[in-house]
Amino acid sequence: MKHIKNSYLELLAELGIGGAHPGGIHLTEEILKNENINSSYHVLDAGCGTGQTAAYISQTFQAKVTALDFNPTMVAKARHRMKINNLPVEILEGSIEDIPLPNDHFNFIISESVLSFVNKQKAVSEIYRILKSGGRFIAVEPTLNERLDDAQEQEIMQFYGLDSLLLETDWADLLKQTGFENIQIKHHTTIESEPDFHYSNEIDPALYDVMRKHLDIITKYQETFNYRVYTCSK
Ligand SMILES: C[S@@+](CC[C@H](N)C(=O)[O-])C[C@H]1O[C@@H](n2cnc3c(N)ncnc32)[C@H](O)[C@@H]1O
Repeated sequence: MKHIKNSYLELLAELGIGGAHPGGIHLTEEILKNENINSSYHVLDAGCGTGQTAAYISQTFQAKVTALDFNPTMVAKARHRMKINNLPVEILEGSIEDIPLPNDHFNFIISESVLSFVNKQKAVSEIYRILKSGGRFIAVEPTLNERLDDAQEQEIMQFYGLDSLLLETDWADLLKQTGFENIQIKHHTTIESEPDFHYSNEIDPALYDVMRKHLDIITKYQETFNYRVYTCSK
């Protein structure tokens, strides 16, 4: 059995789960309806996973789309998705904490359930740097409704490999301190989406325990640990 570093992210990569954020692709469709993305836009999906959102944006709006992920298994699955769907989406392997792209580059950036897993300050600063003036940024992120006791917060952070758990005011402060404006926070009731899997050939059996633990945690903390959609402009 191989060593699993961040077992939750490894589970998502091995199962190749598309729409691996709360609300899935249906939530993404809802969010994007309110934006003015068109074929002149250059869009980044930062932490794209298997590329479901990037593919949707390319297909729906004919925008130029770039997608970035850190995990080589995710990158391979995203590239495969674009190839079989004949979509001109560029997939880059790299970190959201140090994005290998120039300043003021994108009209629109979306990042769905990624910032929580990384150095948030670094990642948000990088997103700000590569967004054009007047550009829009949307993040879908797990958010605490209220502080939990230490043991409960540790349980969540350790399982998902997070360095902190943020309230919605903490997320808004982080965006504001980085320079973002027009910050809006939306609560969406969870919209069910069909799961979309791109399985690997051999799935480590230890990952099934990880799946069970994930389901235990989301059930246990469903009243206090949900998600929000954060929208803002540069
Ligand atoms: C919960 S998944 C969400 C994937 C995708 N946004 C979606 O909604 O399906 C988190 C993603 O963040 C990626 N990720 C984690 N750390 C990263 C980093 N430093 N840079 C870029 N991507 C990262 C993981 O590889 C994984 O694909």
